[in-house]
Amino acid sequence: MLTTPALDDVRAARLEHPGLTWGLVPTMGALHDGHLALVRRARTENDRVGVSIFVNPIQFNRREDLAAYPRQVARDCELLAAEGVDLVWTPAEEDVYPPGFQTYVTVEEITRPLEGAARPGHFRGVATVVAKLFNVFQPTRAYFGQKDAQQVAVIRQMVRDLAFPLEVVVCPIVREADGLAMSSRNALLGPDERRAATVLVRALRAAEAEWARGQRAGEHLRAAMRAVLDAEPLARVDYVSAADPLTLREIDGEASSALLSLAVFIGGVRLIDNLVLGPAAG
Ligand code: PAJ
Repeated sequence: MLTTPALDDVRAARLEHPGLTWGLVPTMGALHDGHLALVRRARTENDRVGVSIFVNPIQFNRREDLAAYPRQVARDCELLAAEGVDLVWTPAEEDVYPPGFQTYVTVEEITRPLEGAARPGHFRGVATVVAKLFNVFQPTRAYFGQKDAQQVAVIRQMVRDLAFPLEVVVCPIVREADGLAMSSRNALLGPDERRAATVLVRALRAAEAEWARGQRAGEHLRAAMRAVLDAEPLARVDYVSAADPLTLREIDGEASSALLSLAVFIGGVRLIDNLVLGPAAG
């Protein structure tokens, strides 16, 4: 497995055998089974697999969040070698953003609600770095997790709008045994917080149960989630949403499908989770 900080080495590896298919898995490291599920899927669908590990500073709107983000590149590379990954790019900040860098990708409407509203500039940072990764790796397919539902929507939009010649593959959310969605941030939770963190998936499942009973009103679904969250003293709600899965606009009246999503602080750690209801659930 080639592990390199140099952009030119990635290019050279990609262009050595131009006929081979490449799967790219972009990550910020501190890898867990959620990331590895993307790697395994990429492994089965492509001749070569590339992974990037880069904690992208421009997508963090809180400096303390960037500083606290877990970093363990050596361990990550061992995990990736065991998965049969061919190439890992571990750039330094100046490898991605050379001095004088001044070009950014802004996806508009779909970045405004939810994570975009809560984290100004976040998706500009995500779209910019993912566009750069696409240009460096020139993958046949790029793999993303449904864990970050709005990120998937933003990247799909960017790929369509800018005609990136690749396929976006979306993989289901991987969860711990108690339902907590796997996240690098879970490592930052203390024991009591870790127990409280299951409140996100419990809230989603409460709304799902309402849906199963025939409840289709957006406000009813949001209220069902809020009721569960309000009962957890360690949880502070950032947002609770029942939105159209395509436009991400909040559902006003009744809906035939819904993206339930939420962002909740457990102590100082901000966690997100989501669930798709209806035909869009796939
Ligand atoms: P990161 O948070 O490291 O996540 C990398 C990829 O793993 C994303 O596509 C994310 O959705 C997926 N992922 C994370 N947890 C998951 C889980 N529990 N189940 C399934 N997939 C999961 O997302 C980013 O990095 C960055 O924004 C990035 C795209 C790399 C751009 O900097």
